[in-house]
Amino acid sequence: MTDDIARIVDDGIGRIARVGDLDSLAEVDRDLFGKQSALATIKAGMRDLEPAERKAIGQALNEAQTRLRAAIAERRESLSADLRRQRLDDERIDLTELRPAQRPGHLHLVTQTMERLEDVFVGMGFTVAEGPEVEDDWHNFTALNLPAHHPARDMQDTFFVDLGEPGDVVMRTHTSPVQIRLMESTTPPIYSVMPGRVYRQETADATHLAVFHQIECLVVDEGISFANLASTIDTFTKAYFGDGFSSRLRPSYFPFTEPSAEFDIRRPDGSWLELGGCGMVNPNVLRNVGIDPEEYSGFAFGFGLDRLAAMRHGVPDLRQIASVDIRFVRQF
Ligand code: DAH
Repeated sequence: MTDDIARIVDDGIGRIARVGDLDSLAEVDRDLFGKQSALATIKAGMRDLEPAERKAIGQALNEAQTRLRAAIAERRESLSADLRRQRLDDERIDLTELRPAQRPGHLHLVTQTMERLEDVFVGMGFTVAEGPEVEDDWHNFTALNLPAHHPARDMQDTFFVDLGEPGDVVMRTHTSPVQIRLMESTTPPIYSVMPGRVYRQETADATHLAVFHQIECLVVDEGISFANLASTIDTFTKAYFGDGFSSRLRPSYFPFTEPSAEFDIRRPDGSWLELGGCGMVNPNVLRNVGIDPEEYSGFAFGFGLDRLAAMRHGVPDLRQIASVDIRFVRQF
């Protein structure tokens, strides 16, 4: 009979070790200690034994129960610990999900540049205006004193859109048409900047892109002079680049301004950066939008953002600005 008890214990320990959850463990517990269990049957038979044998069997039964209960308790402990760990894992909120490799992204260098420029101009009292990228001939050229067949149209190689009258719809070649829209819809005084994307039929190289960005500035008011233009450009230069920078104007030609100039920025090391064009709004342009040039005068300037951003951050090739190479984009 002691052999039977030893086998029951070995079997029991084996089953306890193999169960995978607390429910199965409870079942094993019932099998081992229930009224129908092998141990209970042996116990029931004890009353028929000789006193000496009964004592030995009783002792063996006690030891067997102690070992099995200890094994069950130990297994219950470890199964409960597994369960707790599993629950914690399931309910865990991962606060470290935004690992460096999965950064949520940021604004593109050109957008950052645009927003900084807008901030500077807004700080100087200008409002921000926008216009469409698909333009008609009137706003992009004619109203800007560039009538059909004007040779200056060749300065801006144009993408035409197959819409309406042939040649009438274009991808805007500059942000200057927004000046026209603004003057058509607003009575002076006007103090506005107009940033946006522009298009030219060019093969991209280190200093040119077919799709790039400009910002335009327009002031129309009573008594606006060339001195106001020069001082506004210089104030902007210092506000955007810093006190060590200054500006200069060089005579130039644009059909929409008279007189016209190009403006350069002088860096603290004495070198010059050609930035954009400017001038006094041509009286023809004012007349085209129904503003009386005897009553009002104005100035305008415009320049490219992409080149400015590239210069500021030491980007040697403009084509990188337009690239989607994440190693480039991430640097800014
Ligand atoms: N629209 C000119 C261009 O894209 C730049 C420019 C020149 C804008 C003179 C102006 C201006 O407002 O007055 O080349």
